Amino acid sequence: MTTAKFITSPKVSFIVAALLPDLGIGYKGQLPWNLKQEMKYFRKVTTATADPKKKNAVIMGRKTYYSIPPKFRPLKNRLNIVMTRNISKLREEMKEELAANEEILRLSNSLKHTLDSLTEADQIEEIFIIGGAEVYNQLMAQNHDLIDTIYLTEISHNDKLDMDAFFKLDTKLWKKSDQQELTNRLRLKGLHEEFQLTDNQQNEFTFHFTISKNVTNPNTSLIKIEGVAGKDDAKFYLGKRIAYVYKASKEVRGSKIRCIWGKVTRVHGNNGLVRAQFKHNLPAKTFGASVRIMLYPSNI
Ligand SMILES: NC(=O)c1ccc[n+]([C@@H]2O[C@H](COP(=O)([O-])OP(=O)(O)OC[C@H]3O[C@@H](n4cnc5c(N)ncnc54)[C@H](OP(=O)(O)O)[C@@H]3O)[C@@H](O)[C@H]2O)c1
Repeated sequence: MTTAKFITSPKVSFIVAALLPDLGIGYKGQLPWNLKQEMKYFRKVTTATADPKKKNAVIMGRKTYYSIPPKFRPLKNRLNIVMTRNISKLREEMKEELAANEEILRLSNSLKHTLDSLTEADQIEEIFIIGGAEVYNQLMAQNHDLIDTIYLTEISHNDKLDMDAFFKLDTKLWKKSDQQELTNRLRLKGLHEEFQLTDNQQNEFTFHFTISKNVTNPNTSLIKIEGVAGKDDAKFYLGKRIAYVYKASKEVRGSKIRCIWGKVTRVHGNNGLVRAQFKHNLPAKTFGASVRIMLYPSNI
């Protein structure tokens, strides 16, 4: 048996506001609405952290970045990562903006690489994919297993509005959670009393805040195994059983000791981390806790 630590792996979440029933999200490069309470929700949810020493990251396509009015960008108190396929061109275009915001503004040309490196960054708490359509939909189609949660604001309007950008949600892969789950998430950020979750109204719009979880990727966590520094060493642990043993507040059959079993499912990145899947939901206190890895089943 060897020991390992759950690292405080940042969750990766989509945050999106979409008009029902087609999930339209934009028109001519802009949002098709101006909803004050929705903007406030976006700002607070993407900014607030449970751990005051950490920050969140927001990842967006170049077009979404440019759709933010210059005086509001980069989005403050968050690490902003702007995706482009032509880094040198955009670096030149944004030269002054980048120099003035060195700490919180970066460019990237690889979504996968950005997600891998951010999930290993221990000063980041949550990573938000904030759009637009191209960025959301390619992650949805190719790498949905990297995404844990969708914060979806469901918007309704009596008329059919013009839209040219859509969020392609595969409802087979995502299950809407009950409101309690969203309240719990907001509580961790200290925001649970700030928002009414349903029946918000402004102008002719009605909107509800919802949360959905990835059904193909439940109860997973990143694990740092002691003494393992590289991808090849980490591969040895694939398929091994993991036990998270903890003390609960209530006794069951005379004991407060509980165990949640899991399994190492894949290697994560190049620095020796592995991803593990557990049989049950992991309690929030597992972050940073120790787990035991059983050296079986063994393939040597
Ligand atoms: N309702 C909402 O919640 C919401 C949220 C965000 C945005 N929106 C709306 O969505 C619309 C914008 O969406 P969009 O699809 O047109 O643009 P977008 O996704 O914001 O940006 C597309 C650009 O991002 C870069 N990019 C995309 N994938 C990349 C990858 N894999 N690697 C590197 N770079 C990549 C490319 O930049 P280069 O061309 O520089 O290579 C591409 O042209 C707007 O109407 C906006 O208002 C709505």
